[in-house]
Amino acid sequence: MQMCALLWINASRTSTEREGERERSLLRLRGREEAGKRDESSSSAESFRNSFKSALRARIEWRSFIHHMSSPSTTMMRVSWRRAIVGSVENTTTNNRRARQHEKTKRKTTTTRHATKCQTSQTASFSPKGAKISGVGKALPKKFITNDDLAKLVETNDEWIRTRTGIGKRHVISGDETLTSLAEEASLEALKMANVNPEDIDLIIVATSSPDDLFGSACLLQSAIGAKGALAYDLTAACSGFVVGLVNGMHYIRGGGYENVLVVGADVLSRYVDWRDRGTCILFGDGCGAVVLTATSKVEECSLLGFDMHSDGSQNHHLTAKVCGAKAGKVWQSDSEAGELTSYDNIGMNGQDVFKFAVRAVPMTIKESLKNANMQPEEIDHLVLHQANQRIIDAAAQRLGLGDDKVVSNIAEYGNTSAASVPLALCEAVESGNVKRGDVVAMAGFGAGLTWASCLLKW
Ligand code: COA
Repeated sequence: MQMCALLWINASRTSTEREGERERSLLRLRGREEAGKRDESSSSAESFRNSFKSALRARIEWRSFIHHMSSPSTTMMRVSWRRAIVGSVENTTTNNRRARQHEKTKRKTTTTRHATKCQTSQTASFSPKGAKISGVGKALPKKFITNDDLAKLVETNDEWIRTRTGIGKRHVISGDETLTSLAEEASLEALKMANVNPEDIDLIIVATSSPDDLFGSACLLQSAIGAKGALAYDLTAACSGFVVGLVNGMHYIRGGGYENVLVVGADVLSRYVDWRDRGTCILFGDGCGAVVLTATSKVEECSLLGFDMHSDGSQNHHLTAKVCGAKAGKVWQSDSEAGELTSYDNIGMNGQDVFKFAVRAVPMTIKESLKNANMQPEEIDHLVLHQANQRIIDAAAQRLGLGDDKVVSNIAEYGNTSAASVPLALCEAVESGNVKRGDVVAMAGFGAGLTWASCLLKW
């Protein structure tokens, strides 16, 4: 309580006064900490340290924290951390009391809540439904970079890029274009095709690894399109994100309760590409694709025939864009460094390892989806794979025994647009009239994580 009072800062004072007061408070506090350390038998010092540790939980390493806190400079961040921690010391006793009280109340209410839940399922206002894709849309940045443009930046050439990857150009955001603006354009197009009003969307899932806001872009999209009634959240599963999001969205409808779900795959990885690295800058581009999922009246009309999804974090190092410094296991040494360490590194990739993984994983996951659906590869009419490399697409098609006529490819135009690539390819295949009612579409995404996922849909 005393310590909390020491750190209490009157908000109405000037910032210089507040800063001085903070310094004095911290010095007094540090003095107490030292005194506490000297007195080995002091139980209050022990409980003080324990409370510090528990307040930090797993978030900050203890030693780095002490180092950080005893640095002579004082910042807003440290003061607010300290205030929170000291607050937690003061509150420990109160919290213990409250926790015991809360436990008692919880025991009582759990019974009540459980009863409510059971009642809901007995008198369920919703029933399981089927789900289908009712609309598709896409958006691409206006500006694009050709292979010849890249040859001016790094040692490469059009022939090498086309032969090794199949890529001819890639779009990149510029001016006031953002991930959200692309998502808005693609979503409105998909909603128009589905004949669904934004107010009728129940859920928005934005699959992305490059949001405009660290806390997510889905809510920004929700606001932009006026989907006031929707829950909106981001999903990060890199280049598998759209397929994972699609399967998620389907289940929200199949399980009952949701009528319309908007699933968006969007990425602007040009923000994280090292434009001096010819091993990666030739591959990535920006874009967005969106689909609207709508409930069907009968469960058996569901478009989702089968799916299969995986991750393997032990292979994470093959494709990364880590928080700066995280690779070296670095901890904050000063407050100014804290800012630097919260931005992200450029994309790092072991191209050949990712290539080998993709060639193996894609046919495997599609075969698994086929098995779930009790179907054979020859029943696939369209193969819509993540557009990472034409050689990966061709190898997967070959392993599944599917001819070129069944393979959807637009990699030459857009490169690898990460979470956007599957919905972009799907959208173009639908718009061109190639995908017709009753056709079976196999989709698969793969990439960082590592993650890989596939699904089979009856159009
Ligand atoms: N232009 C010209 N030469 C290049 C080059 C470029 N852009 N990039 C690499 N090279 C060179 C290499 O330095 C190497 O030269 P060396 O033989 O003198 O050492 C040579 O070309 C072969 O490099 P390598 O890495 O073996 O090429 P590759 O055939 O494996 O192709 C990728 C490289 C990146 C195109 C390929 O590995 C790939 O597509 N991997 C999968 C990546 C992927 O899909 N990532 C996203 C997953 S979501």
